Amino acid sequence: MKHLPLFFDLAGRKVVVVGQGTAADRRADLARSAGAEISRIGGDAFGSADFRGAAAAFVATGKFESDVAAQHAAKASGVPVNVADRPALCDFILPAIIDRDGVVVAVSTCGASPTLASVLRGRIEAILPERIGTLASLARTFRVQVNALIADPARRRGFWRRLTEGPAARLALAGDEAGARRVALGELDAARRRISPVGIAHIVGAGPGDPDLLTLRAAQLLQEADAILHDDLVPAAILGRARRDAELVPVGKRRGTAGWVQAEIEAELVRRVRAGQTVVRLKAGDPFIFGRGGEEVEALRAVGLPVSVVPGITAALGCAASAGIPLTHRRLASAVTFVTGHGAEGGREAAWPALAAQGHTLAVYMGATEAASVRDRLLDAGVAASTPVAVVESATRPGERISVGRLADLARLAAAHTARADAGPSLIIVGEVAALAAVADQSFLAEVC
Ligand SMILES: C[S@@+](CC[C@H](N)C(=O)[O-])C[C@H]1O[C@@H](n2cnc3c(N)ncnc32)[C@H](O)[C@@H]1O
Repeated sequence: MKHLPLFFDLAGRKVVVVGQGTAADRRADLARSAGAEISRIGGDAFGSADFRGAAAAFVATGKFESDVAAQHAAKASGVPVNVADRPALCDFILPAIIDRDGVVVAVSTCGASPTLASVLRGRIEAILPERIGTLASLARTFRVQVNALIADPARRRGFWRRLTEGPAARLALAGDEAGARRVALGELDAARRRISPVGIAHIVGAGPGDPDLLTLRAAQLLQEADAILHDDLVPAAILGRARRDAELVPVGKRRGTAGWVQAEIEAELVRRVRAGQTVVRLKAGDPFIFGRGGEEVEALRAVGLPVSVVPGITAALGCAASAGIPLTHRRLASAVTFVTGHGAEGGREAAWPALAAQGHTLAVYMGATEAASVRDRLLDAGVAASTPVAVVESATRPGERISVGRLADLARLAAAHTARADAGPSLIIVGEVAALAAVADQSFLAEVC
């Protein structure tokens, strides 16, 4: 290592910046952001007295003679100096910096290649959680208490590890600062009383099926989970992204089989989180769109257990993208509604007449097996029989299939997607925009338009 990376406290200290261009401005801004008092010297008129008492000097005149003269003047006053683009004249070099609310990463190639340093900075930035600063400030808040309450160094290290990687960290990184503080306090109490702390449940959306459409956070959580309770609709390709020794628990409510009932899933979540596990409850699409994620969040909150929610790309968006159907369109649709075709099932039935307006796109979930009833409810509500519809099966997955037609033909169209034993999930899109589907057979359009 040619240079030792050190983080220098410049708060309230004098820093001299020589030069007038953007390089000098950037250095002045950086030193100012660390709280330094900046003394700017523009031209060539400077002497060693200008540098007296300074903590550091930055030189960036752009002219070799002036750079050398300024460097000499700084050194004559005993001030460490950095000269832009002249490593041989530098006492210290400036790294590529990432500053996320007080978490600072400095990258250096020891002067070999500032470009390589900035490429590396970009890569590190991409993997650094956006709210890492919130996590640092959580740790700062607890520092004194932890040191006072947990005397044993190994137990203290264990506490810090859990705080920075476990449930409290996850909540802080998800933006739930109050929840993170609550969990951290619980963990501090557990550590003090030498009992095992509770875990956390993450209610995670897996997206429509293509593993590349997982969010970054969902992918991270799959790598952290002790157990993954997943629906049948979540494909193997996504479960394959889980940590190798995570326990995979299928809790699907498969048609025609006994399966798990909702209350059992909620009880299982509570049991595992109480036992200290990090549990991912993995659902197709988004957990809050026809996913019963809300009920699971309520069940965990009701007993005071930590829970976070990670959104996913819901099926309607996956289907729309796959089929090339814009759900809204300046000329054709100014509203879109996600509706279940499944009937009320003990819940509220959709108010179909309110959805029948022109210029309104409907994304009908769980409607393909009841397409005739969906069609009839829409026709009764006043939707024209010639309205374009699309049925999208297994969007974003291998075996994706798309059909387009008219509302009058919906039952026949949907049957082609539900009759096979290996049929995937299907979603129906109703509205003028469905005519824009990028399918090879456009013959129906002639009849519609
Ligand atoms: C119980 S709902 C779950 C919806 C999920 N929470 C979401 O946000 O996509 C299941 C329905 O979602 C739709 N669906 C889910 N994934 C799909 C996919 N890849 N292609 C087409 N439809 C899909 C189907 O209508 C299916 O019947």
